[in-house]
Amino acid sequence: MIKAVIFDMDGVLTETSHQHFLAWNRLAEELGYILPLEVKDAVRGISRLASLDIVLKAVNADKRFTESEKLVLAEIKNIYYIESIKRFTAEDLSEGARELLELLKENGLKIALASASKNSKFLLRAMEIKQYFDIVVDPAVIQKGKPAPDIFLKAAELLNIAPEDCIGIEDAYAGIESIQRAGMTALGVGDAAVLSNCSIVFDNLQGVYSYFVRLFRE
Ligand code: G6P
Ligand code: MG
Repeated sequence: MIKAVIFDMDGVLTETSHQHFLAWNRLAEELGYILPLEVKDAVRGISRLASLDIVLKAVNADKRFTESEKLVLAEIKNIYYIESIKRFTAEDLSEGARELLELLKENGLKIALASASKNSKFLLRAMEIKQYFDIVVDPAVIQKGKPAPDIFLKAAELLNIAPEDCIGIEDAYAGIESIQRAGMTALGVGDAAVLSNCSIVFDNLQGVYSYFVRLFRE
C-alpha cells in the first residue's frame, strides 16, 4: 500500500533543469567552449561535481583542469545558477504541483524530497511549498548520488516507511534508476524518450495528479 511519495526537485516541482543548463553553458562559454544541448539531459539528477565532469567531457576538456581548479569551476557555476533562481516565487512552481501536494496530503500520504541539489531547500521556501514536506534529505549526507539508490532509501528510512510502500517521482534517467534500485515504484515526468527506463511517464504533474486520483479511487 502506498504510504509516501518522494519527489525530486529540479525538472519535477520546478523547471530549473533549464537554469542548471544555462549556468553550465555560461561557464563553458567563458572557458571557450560551445556546450552541446545533450548535456541538459545528461546532467539531470547528477551532483554538481559529477555534472562538471560530464560538461568537461562533452567539450573534450576533461584533462584540462586539476581537481582544485574543478572545485572553483563548480563554485562559479553555482554562483551563476543561484543568480538565476534568486527571484523565484510560488509562480515558478510547475503547473499542478501545489494541487498534487494538496491531494497527497488530503489522502494521508507522507511527502519527502530527495533532490541532489544543495539549493533545493532555498527553492522549497521561495516557492512556498516547504510546509508540505515531512522530510527533506540533505544531499550532503549521501555518499553515492543518483543512479545509486541511496538518496531514495534515506528518504524512506527517515519517513520510517518501507521502500515498497513509496512512489518516487523523477525527470532524470539516473533518478528513475535510483528509485527502481531502491525497490520503489517510479513515475517519470517529462520526455518519455529520455526516460526510456521508466514504464510510467507523464508529460507533466497534471498527469501525475490524475494517476493519484485513480489510485485513491481503487
Ligand atoms: C539536480 C539537478 C542537477 C544538478 C544537481 C546538483 O539533481 O538535476 O542538474 O547538478 O541537482 O545541484 P546543485 O544545485 O547542488 O548544484
Ligand atoms: Mg530532476
